[in-house]
Amino acid sequence: MEKLIGSKKIKTAVFISGKGSNLENLINFSLSKNSPILITFILSNNNKAKGLRFAKKFGITQKIFSFKKQNIDEKKILNFLKKKNIKIVCLAGFMRILSKDFIKKFGGKILNIHPSLLPKYKGLNTHERVIRNKETFSGCTVHFVNAKLDSGKIILQKKVKISKTDNSKTLAKKILKQEHLLYPRAIRKIISNL
Ligand code: GRF
Repeated sequence: MEKLIGSKKIKTAVFISGKGSNLENLINFSLSKNSPILITFILSNNNKAKGLRFAKKFGITQKIFSFKKQNIDEKKILNFLKKKNIKIVCLAGFMRILSKDFIKKFGGKILNIHPSLLPKYKGLNTHERVIRNKETFSGCTVHFVNAKLDSGKIILQKKVKISKTDNSKTLAKKILKQEHLLYPRAIRKIISNL
């Protein structure tokens, strides 16, 4: 694990598919004093992802891989990550499931953030389902990625209280705010454990 630490910041990639608020937050975190990571690469499977604007804004290398031929794309991505000495991949609203082979061959850490208290409410439309089930709490989870959807080992979770007036939109907003606090904390935690 020593290789992951070194004396410099750990090179990190962020994979996105959508608006990229977690990406923006992670970039700001990585630029903050004493941050252990540096984001050097942004990947999207969607060339219309709004979050790609942050690559331009912060001058970070970006690449689009459609994942239509997933095994071919994953091979190219692995080569690139290796070439760029990237040791951590943060998934942030990335809508593809990485293969077992990719996870194994990468060898570094792959993290994901999910807007529920896993193992509850894996998958899509989380907030709608939580509201429909009249839950009183939800939250967010940062976990290691394995080849099953939203199922790897949990790193950190934050509970969020649901009020009677919440709907899926207000809940999503509340939780997203907590996601932005949780993801950097989870990164610090895994790095301090290396
Ligand atoms: C977040 O709620 C995240 O937990 C989920 O997808 C959403 C992405 O939002 N996996 P953003 O693109 O980071 O704004």
